[in-house]
Amino acid sequence: MNDALLCSAMAIAYIQKKMDSRFWWPILFALTMASPGALSQSTDALGFLSIDCGIEPGSSYVDPLTNISYVSDAGFIDTGVNRNISSDSLSPKLRTLRAFPNGTRNCYTQGRSHPWARPQISLNLDYAPGYTIRSPVVARGSKYLLRALFLYGNYDGLDGQLLAFDLHFGVNYWDSVSVADSTFFYVKETITVATAGYLSVCLVNTGTGTPFISGIDLRPLKPVLYPAANKGRSLVLFNRWNLGMESGYLWYPADPLDRFWGSWSFPGWNYVSTNSTVRNLPQDLFQVPSVVMQTAVTPINSSSILITWDPLPGAVNQFFPILHISEILDLAGTNQSRQFNIYVNGIHWLGDVMTPEYLYSDAVYSLLPFPSSPTYNISLEALSNSTLPPILNAFELYVTMSNTSVPSDVGDVDAMTVIKEWYRIQRNWMGDPCSPSAFVWDGLNCTYSLSNSPRVTALNLSSSGLTGEITKSVASFSALQYLDLSYNNLTGQIPDELANLSSLKLLDLTGNLLNGSVPSNLLEMAQNGLLTLRLDGNPHLCNNGTLCNVMPVAKKKKISTPVIVILCIVPVLILLAVIIIVWKVRKTQGLRKGSSVDPYNAFPKQTNNVLQLENRQFTYMELQNITNNFQKILGKGGFGFVFHGHLEDGIQVAVKMLSQSSSQGTKEFLAEAQHLTRVHHRNLVSFIGYCNEVNHLALVYEFMSQGTVQDHLRGRANNARALTWRQRLHIAIDAAQGLEYLHKGCKPPLVHRDVKSGNILLSETLGAKIADFGLSKAFLSETNSHISTLVVGTPGYLDPEYCNTFQLSEKSDVYSFGVVLLELITGLPPIVPGTENVHLAQWVLQRLDKGNIEDVVDPRLEGEYDINCVWKCADIALKCTAERSQQRSNMTEVAMQLKESLELENSYYNSGTNQNLYSEISNVSSNSAPEIGVSRMTEIFEPKVR
Ligand SMILES: *[C@@H]1O[C@H](CO)[C@@H](O)[C@H](O)[C@H]1NC(C)=O
Ligand SMILES: *[C@@H]1O[C@H](CO)[C@@H](O)[C@H](O)[C@H]1NC(C)=O
Ligand SMILES: *[C@@H]1O[C@H](CO)[C@@H](O)[C@H](O)[C@H]1NC(C)=O
Ligand SMILES: *[C@@H]1O[C@H](CO)[C@@H](O)[C@H](O)[C@H]1NC(C)=O
Ligand SMILES: *[C@@H]1O[C@H](CO)[C@@H](O)[C@H](O)[C@H]1NC(C)=O
Repeated sequence: MNDALLCSAMAIAYIQKKMDSRFWWPILFALTMASPGALSQSTDALGFLSIDCGIEPGSSYVDPLTNISYVSDAGFIDTGVNRNISSDSLSPKLRTLRAFPNGTRNCYTQGRSHPWARPQISLNLDYAPGYTIRSPVVARGSKYLLRALFLYGNYDGLDGQLLAFDLHFGVNYWDSVSVADSTFFYVKETITVATAGYLSVCLVNTGTGTPFISGIDLRPLKPVLYPAANKGRSLVLFNRWNLGMESGYLWYPADPLDRFWGSWSFPGWNYVSTNSTVRNLPQDLFQVPSVVMQTAVTPINSSSILITWDPLPGAVNQFFPILHISEILDLAGTNQSRQFNIYVNGIHWLGDVMTPEYLYSDAVYSLLPFPSSPTYNISLEALSNSTLPPILNAFELYVTMSNTSVPSDVGDVDAMTVIKEWYRIQRNWMGDPCSPSAFVWDGLNCTYSLSNSPRVTALNLSSSGLTGEITKSVASFSALQYLDLSYNNLTGQIPDELANLSSLKLLDLTGNLLNGSVPSNLLEMAQNGLLTLRLDGNPHLCNNGTLCNVMPVAKKKKISTPVIVILCIVPVLILLAVIIIVWKVRKTQGLRKGSSVDPYNAFPKQTNNVLQLENRQFTYMELQNITNNFQKILGKGGFGFVFHGHLEDGIQVAVKMLSQSSSQGTKEFLAEAQHLTRVHHRNLVSFIGYCNEVNHLALVYEFMSQGTVQDHLRGRANNARALTWRQRLHIAIDAAQGLEYLHKGCKPPLVHRDVKSGNILLSETLGAKIADFGLSKAFLSETNSHISTLVVGTPGYLDPEYCNTFQLSEKSDVYSFGVVLLELITGLPPIVPGTENVHLAQWVLQRLDKGNIEDVVDPRLEGEYDINCVWKCADIALKCTAERSQQRSNMTEVAMQLKESLELENSYYNSGTNQNLYSEISNVSSNSAPEIGVSRMTEIFEPKVR
């Protein structure tokens, strides 16, 4: 017992020492050479975003040791100055930093309105042409590990006299950075669930030196990891120890999740280790790497391990400890046993005896914080009949991040972001506009209430050199009372929308260059005494509303997608009508002329030979047999009915008969047959044979038992189990590969021209193949385009550019494929029902612009998907459906990117994680241990037989 007390006293001392200089480790980085590498994306293949603060704007490199790509921070922040540290012996990412001599709060934002995000998708929002609100890196609802690194290195020659500043995460205090040694680097980590499509990190000057930062790392975490971190709670790392490691620390690639693991040496501990791999349970919530679990500590001459710590002065003290435990000695067949109890502040933490499993990583953790206490202790105490002392392999300690400040109203934040971009305002406008109240943006007044988000009530941009029109986004500040835009160079008209600001009391537009008339509803508000309207000094403005001769300049309206759809549909319908009439006329003529001319026997002679060589020719009689006299109809295509049949050897086939009233002519039917004879790919429906008799034209294909993708998404198969996200992704990849083959593998290349979910068929195992080549056209690859005045295809899937220009290219298929991909993501048809003909691509864009993928994803997926993967796919789809064909990717790129998405999804699944599991865990644990919310993984997942 004496030993235990000694251990306790020393552990307190040690932890407190650690607390002072939390997260520093001596710099042991070997000199690594930075290799400049062009990075097309901010995140690398691992989904890591690694920002090296202070390097040349726009530059990037790959760290050869870890293969992690680093990008410049210039795209994430507008303020601060770059500085170098005069030491070559550092890891490149620590050799530069960004310092913030000006301003109290300076913020980095990941994921919103920054230059690198712009090329991704351009939203043509009415109020801000080309302005992009996108979240390619940060996805709302996803979990991340966010890390900030600081190495002072005496870059300013001041030797860091009392250098300390605060770090904020969004609107809340995260941690303080206090530089005690200029050669140490300090690490701050948090595990957080993004509640918006962006994250922001702010450095706050506390009057004790110039804040600086060396690097920021963002690492995606699967949603089930660290279950105590959720939408309402971010966890701040206190420390993370790999026990039994002599010295130094580990991170990526030793830990694939790139967590920092430090060492902790203590004389009362015995270091034990194994060379065997310690495995994670399939549903492991922490995924501690084997290398960390392979080392452990046991007490020397004692039967208990004791860890104690004190609360942090003046901070939120909600602690979340996590113990990682595995047996690393093979006790099987020996008389040895290791069993212990775990107590927290003297209370039995685990309701059960801990018997570590040999080479399996186990964890003891809570979903609720420890009750607050003047001091904390955790002890692992061996049972009296246990022959071995307790063992501990790793230990993590987190605190809850403060959440007392509430971010501003989302609509106000969006509107402020637009205004900042629109007028290119260079003030210290960073982070949240209103919150915390100490850092309200210049020119704003906000109201704060206990129950609601802060709102912008006054916007004063008087004498700010604003040019251009008054942006309509001003009208989004629904709580705005005072708007002062006086003494700028604003031109154009006063937007009518300003009258929607129901709380507006003052509108000051004095001293601008506005023209046109004053919106009558604003005048009315002024006449009723609700609004003070100041309009003096606008020479071109006619402000009595009636004597206005200045014709308002008609605004150029962009053709909206519904209009394009109509523009496309009308010619299609007309052309179809023409074709039908021609067809009917020809048919009647053909019949009159008798059988001397056989309009159906139209296979060209040369290809006829080819057909006979490669494919089987059926007689009509045979087809009758095969289909059991055309009994089972599979569907109806543009040509006519498709019947189910069996060949002699039992192989199932689909027989597509050309109906005499078909809207698509013999020519297309034959074209399909011809194309089919020369395309062979596992993602294209195989052609088995054909029938070419008078009055009976038919094509025979392999039978695809699961029907069309469209049926599965919203048709007949609707009642069956919805396709899972993984199945959908595989379908997308298959279809993309089929199209890629048509475009790249065929000579001359083929454009399918009618890619749609109804033309993608599924096999028994849900493999996808493209069907219906009736409209396919070969085109000359030299010019890469082909003029065709016949607009064909299916409304909703038609390339808008093709509709306008009749230029046919592979990119038209890319567009249609993009629409199919959006259907797979959303489960919706290309024209969204319940809207006024809103096209699916536009519908998705509108929602993603709010950073919200959950609004877009098919609810039948029930949240079972990797959110990053879905983001990526939505991104791919929107790139495919870009209005201008040059902006679209080609099918090779699309197929490649989809495969990358699948990797994201696979890693999500391989770890056995999904949302359902998460809720099970929370249920089980909150039921089983109400007071401190205890749970233990093996209890949940591997009930033990005792
Ligand atoms: C930092 O060092 C790099 C390379 O040595 C140099 O190009 C850059 O100008 C330096 N930056 C500053 C702010 O001194
Ligand atoms: C703040 O944290 C508390 C508990 O720590 C939680 O109940 C609450 O929902 C959080 N508030 C917000 C806005 O997330
Ligand atoms: C652990 O905490 C409990 C409650 O605060 C206290 O009674 C007990 O003495 C502590 N144990 C040690 C070894 O410090
Ligand atoms: C030790 O005793 C506990 C009960 O106190 C019992 O559950 C456990 O099985 C025993 N272990 C061994 C190895 O005998
Ligand atoms: C806006 O700011 C200017 C200059 O700071 C000031 O003169 C003016 O009164 C302010 N407007 C309002 C409505 O407060």
